[in-house]
Amino acid sequence: MIVSVQNTIRRLTAPDIRARKGGEPIVSLTSYHAHTALIVDAYCDVILVGDSLGMVMHGLETTIPVTLDMMILQGHAVMRGSKRALVVIDLPFGSYEASKEHAFASAARVLKETGCGAIKLEGGRRMAETIAFLVERGVPVMGHVGLTPQAINALGSFRAQGRDEADWAPIEADARAVADAGAFAVVLEAVAEPLARRMTAQVAIPTIGIGASPACDGQILVLEDMLGLSPRVPKFVKRFGDLGPSIEQAVKNYAAEVRARTFPGTENVYPMRESTITKLPERGKGPSRA
Ligand code: KIV
Repeated sequence: MIVSVQNTIRRLTAPDIRARKGGEPIVSLTSYHAHTALIVDAYCDVILVGDSLGMVMHGLETTIPVTLDMMILQGHAVMRGSKRALVVIDLPFGSYEASKEHAFASAARVLKETGCGAIKLEGGRRMAETIAFLVERGVPVMGHVGLTPQAINALGSFRAQGRDEADWAPIEADARAVADAGAFAVVLEAVAEPLARRMTAQVAIPTIGIGASPACDGQILVLEDMLGLSPRVPKFVKRFGDLGPSIEQAVKNYAAEVRARTFPGTENVYPMRESTITKLPERGKGPSRA
């Protein structure tokens, strides 16, 4: 029997994450590249290829222009860089809202072309029918409620949700709808802390908080935000690193060395092989003329 070497490390699956409700916190980060995925994979349960890549990688103002092809390309990179974490890929704006059939076609492309384990889509009650349709057809779905950045044009600004108790009911109904529709987990973004805590207690699936509550079943941040690489970050981001200044220093040093011609040094260039160096004939011992 031939055993595939690719199967020696088993990836976490959507049911594994679903089973973590109320258990050990689910550690999640975004990644869009193979090299960061390799690092993140060693410590995280879930890697999200988020549509925030539009802002982080492409300098867009919002996630609206992000396309399915962009998500699939970076999804490939992250799958190549990771071995153990569940990789979840965002369906971008315009790739799933028109109909549940359209959502299935987009989700199927993502799963087939990248080999990832699940998709994420934004929206609560309005997406419940679509989520159920996808789940019934073998697509694991992570929901996303509270602040939904793809709705920026309708919302007008990125603002925390549920800071007045009067606003709680529809947000709670969204999380319940996503859970009842069969999602395996739900992201709660920028939701007032007491509300996020209450929603976590109410729904049967794990909640993954971003600007939500330590009571959530897991947490997620955008990697570049927590590394100190993003120029502007929301209040809920804690900077666990400060890579901006060290990258700037490295680039500054490089530029100075190139200008001074001290880079590349002898250790950074390729000498000729000994055997290929043309030996000049000694005087008087040259080849005789025929
Ligand atoms: O796109 C993204 O990075 C996200 C996270 C903020 C949850 O959806």
